[in-house]
Amino acid sequence: MSEKTLKFNSKTIHGGQKPDAAYGAVMPPIYQTSTYAQTTPGGHKGYAYSRSANPTRTALEDSLASIENGTHGMAFASGIAAMDAVIKLLNPGDEVVSTNDLYGGTYRLFKKVFEKFGIKFVFVDMQDAQAIEPAINSRTKLIWVETPTNPMMNIIDIKAIAQLAKKHEVLMAVDNTFATPYLQTPLDLGADIVMHSATKYLGGHSDVVAGALIVKDKGLAEELYFIQNASGAICGPMDSFLVLRGIKTLHVRMERHCENGAAIANYLASHTKIEKVYWPGFESHPNHEIAKSQMSGYGGMISFVTKGASYEDAIKFVEKLQIFTLAESLGGVESLAGHPASMTHASIPKEEREKIGVVDALIRLSVGIEDVEDLINDLKQAID
Ligand SMILES: Cc1ncc(COP(=O)(O)O)c(C=O)c1O
Repeated sequence: MSEKTLKFNSKTIHGGQKPDAAYGAVMPPIYQTSTYAQTTPGGHKGYAYSRSANPTRTALEDSLASIENGTHGMAFASGIAAMDAVIKLLNPGDEVVSTNDLYGGTYRLFKKVFEKFGIKFVFVDMQDAQAIEPAINSRTKLIWVETPTNPMMNIIDIKAIAQLAKKHEVLMAVDNTFATPYLQTPLDLGADIVMHSATKYLGGHSDVVAGALIVKDKGLAEELYFIQNASGAICGPMDSFLVLRGIKTLHVRMERHCENGAAIANYLASHTKIEKVYWPGFESHPNHEIAKSQMSGYGGMISFVTKGASYEDAIKFVEKLQIFTLAESLGGVESLAGHPASMTHASIPKEEREKIGVVDALIRLSVGIEDVEDLINDLKQAID
């Protein structure tokens, strides 16, 4: 059966995979080797040195390409390393138009690392796709989109921005970490590059740090493979194996993340002590219609603010939680809670983060796949 005809749930398990050539191992072995024997200089079986390529990494990269409906996948040491490779496509003087409400580490990489090499980053609210056109000029080479955004859960219209990118002949990249290809496939909506922190839902078990890029254009893939090898921030064989194993259950985990996410979002929204809940599944969410059209569900990421809460109250709240673990990161089987102002978004200056809604009282939940009654009881005891 052709790979192209497989549906998503089958692709997570079989996409790009074949039994290992040596002994028919169904899961790719962890080829924990840096180098490969050659019979004569250049006489090898496709692998010469593990920074350039490694069979376990290839199995993951082929799976990534399959689940995102791309043609080429690349696995990196972290999500940030994957992003770093994309920005290295650019030259001094180039400009990037980026979502203004995005993961703090992305902002830090752009502003604190790449700006000093002469690349300019312009941050705009992308909720109105047309409003970003004035930020595009002849130096703009890339539009960087994160949707849903972290932590405000805004939804950006991928198709409308892809049309703008085509019109102005600039690349468009989408950070698909929160949604995963289970919920949305940006390449199908016109994006050129999909990026993941595979540390999150793709890995799914909070046991690996990894990143991914997926593209559907051979020339762009070659440029990125060149940077991957030349800069060297590759995903190691053990980590490749772990992410690949995670991907095989992505669809069943995501189904439960979505179910539990909906139950918790509704619980919080109905609680008298809760001021505001940010979750794109609500009909009242300002971008709900776009979410409905480009996503097949609303995920398990939720942010909220308790009525009258201060910075200290928010800290007390997360300290009281017993099943939700207070921790950085998201997307694992276990539920996590975070305080963006002091954790994930602490690298964004206070006035910048408050402009986008990341107030001191904001709490972010990554809803896991436990019994939802236990999760609700945990939130209840922390709120009351
Ligand atoms: C949306 C998003 N993008 C990128 C990253 C960075 O990925 P990593 O931590 O794997 O480098 C994160 C990490 O939290 C994230 O939440």
